[in-house]
Amino acid sequence: MDSFEWNKIFAALLVAVLASQLIGWFSDALYHNEPPEKPAYAINVPGEEDDAATDQQAEPAEPQVATIAVRLQDASADKGARAFRRCQACHKIGDGSQHGVGPDLYNVVGSDIAGKDGYNYSTAVAGLEGQWTYANLDRWLTDPQAMGSGSKMVMKVGDPDDRADLIAYLRANTDNPPALPDAAAGSETGDSETANTDAAADSPPDEG
Ligand code: HEC
Repeated sequence: MDSFEWNKIFAALLVAVLASQLIGWFSDALYHNEPPEKPAYAINVPGEEDDAATDQQAEPAEPQVATIAVRLQDASADKGARAFRRCQACHKIGDGSQHGVGPDLYNVVGSDIAGKDGYNYSTAVAGLEGQWTYANLDRWLTDPQAMGSGSKMVMKVGDPDDRADLIAYLRANTDNPPALPDAAAGSETGDSETANTDAAADSPPDEG
């Protein structure tokens, strides 16, 4: 190859480099892109600052259930009698009636939990301390397994008003029922009444 050939090659390379430079400048000038301030898709990284805020918004509000003290104000023992039909597969209720699958429920309001003579309670329920206060009955009917895990009773009464009616009916079948809890005192009554039942399963009753 002579020098003339080499000159042509160099010239060609030069032109190519210059051309690509020029194209670069041109396209920069034509399509000048700033990165957007916010990414088009916000990606939620756990632990980022505003995460807690979005979480709180996303969580559905807890349905507010009035305390049993408040619900008992409007409860109807008559409606409770009708609702009690589904309990009758297992429970009788009447002075001197016998235990069935479950204990007889006459005089149950205000009585000791698992306090019926001659009924063979599960250890879960026998281990619960305290009385059948209105608040405890409400808790029990909401979910017996939650109150006495391993209880033989599994039926839940999901409707808070049904529970109040049932408790009013149990109260009507109790000779000297405790006074209705003060609705104005709100949850305080309920809380203090139920305070000892949770720990009860761990610690045996002292009389035992
Ligand atoms: C399928 C049977 C069954 C049904 C239905 C049932 N229970 Fe019970 N219930 C039981 C059993 C069994 C026990 C004893 C629980 C244990 O010892 O674990 C019990 C215990 C109870 C107690 C505690 C009694 C005590 O002496 O401590 C109450 C109160 C009660 N049930 C209310 C009700 C009400 C109100 C209904 C209707 C909404 C109902 N039960 C429906 C089987 C049932």
